[in-house]
Amino acid sequence: MGVTLSVIKADVGGFVGHTESHPDVLAKAGECLEKAKKEGLLIDYHVTKCGDDLQLIMTHQLGVDSEKIHKQAWDTFVWCTEVARKLKLHGAGQDLLADSFSGNVKGMGPGVAEMEFEERTAETVIILMADKTSAGAWNMPLYKIFADPFNTVGLVIAPNMHAGFAFEVHDVKEHKKIIFNAPEEIYDMLVLIGAPSHYMVKAVYHRESGEIAAVSSTQQLSFLAGRYVGKDDPVCIVRSQGQFPAVGEILEPFTAPFLVEGWMRGSHQGPLMPVAVKDSTPCRFDGPPRVVALGFQLSSGKLVGPGDMFSDKAFDRAREQANHMADIMRRHGPFEPHRLPLEGMEYTTLPEVMKHVKGRFTDL
Ligand code: F6R
Ligand code: MG
Ligand code: MG
Repeated sequence: MGVTLSVIKADVGGFVGHTESHPDVLAKAGECLEKAKKEGLLIDYHVTKCGDDLQLIMTHQLGVDSEKIHKQAWDTFVWCTEVARKLKLHGAGQDLLADSFSGNVKGMGPGVAEMEFEERTAETVIILMADKTSAGAWNMPLYKIFADPFNTVGLVIAPNMHAGFAFEVHDVKEHKKIIFNAPEEIYDMLVLIGAPSHYMVKAVYHRESGEIAAVSSTQQLSFLAGRYVGKDDPVCIVRSQGQFPAVGEILEPFTAPFLVEGWMRGSHQGPLMPVAVKDSTPCRFDGPPRVVALGFQLSSGKLVGPGDMFSDKAFDRAREQANHMADIMRRHGPFEPHRLPLEGMEYTTLPEVMKHVKGRFTDL
């Protein structure tokens, strides 16, 4: 059976500050999607949050970029914003950058990751969701999952994965894309995806079957708005098992926390900490950045689950390490490499400061 899995997310207001989502907002989203399911638009849905981001996980048969599904998500965010406004939550409606819906939520603020596929006999999917970081944060884990044999032994010993995967990489500044074949082109690819604020892995495909294996959200809120509206807080869908990496191969990269852009005021480097949904509450210096992973089995489009994958005790040490890395980074205060270089910061007083001190510079 052909099914489309759409994950559409937005920050429609934080509780408290930018740290969490309010239960009333989540309940409102649940009400809206329940109605859409009863009306037959959705096969199934799951509402969750990662930090202050509201996540709508939906299955249907209308394909990717469906106007009906995007409108449903947009309307849900609008209704949830009303709840957020009533509660005077912080930044109510912050990711809804347009006044009204115009065909597709892309370019309007929300983040989107969608894929359409024939449901397998057992269709395992993992949905990764992050807060206080941007879409480039998936580059390293996607590389490890689909191209690094030290992470994914299936690439070496599973005959149905041995031919490797193809990576679709987007140049988000020039709005161009390129496909790289792993393993033979990994050195070329790493030159680019090692610069995750410029080149982002958008999708991954199984090379023999051509099937979609992973897709990420690559919306760039700051480009869209032309002003600070927070980091994108991206999502990523990864298919698992059989010809795709095993669940444990998908989660393994998060056992070694790595530094990502985001954290306080979207202007710092900090470790990405894997946590259970209930622990996606970035409170220390508005962070450190968090990632949650929900696992589902699809059954004729029904979302059986979720399993809250990072609630596993085996990720305790990664959390401990991330806290230790956070201590080291925080020591730098407003200095690089904790604070982002001038061009990477979401907030900056540089133009005002320069205006102010310009006349005081003298030649060396
Ligand atoms: C980072 C983030 C927060 C805010 C900070 C200031 O992505 O959302 O760190 O930037 O709390 O928020 P405002 O400017 O809304 O008071
Ligand atoms: Mg927020
Ligand atoms: Mg957020």
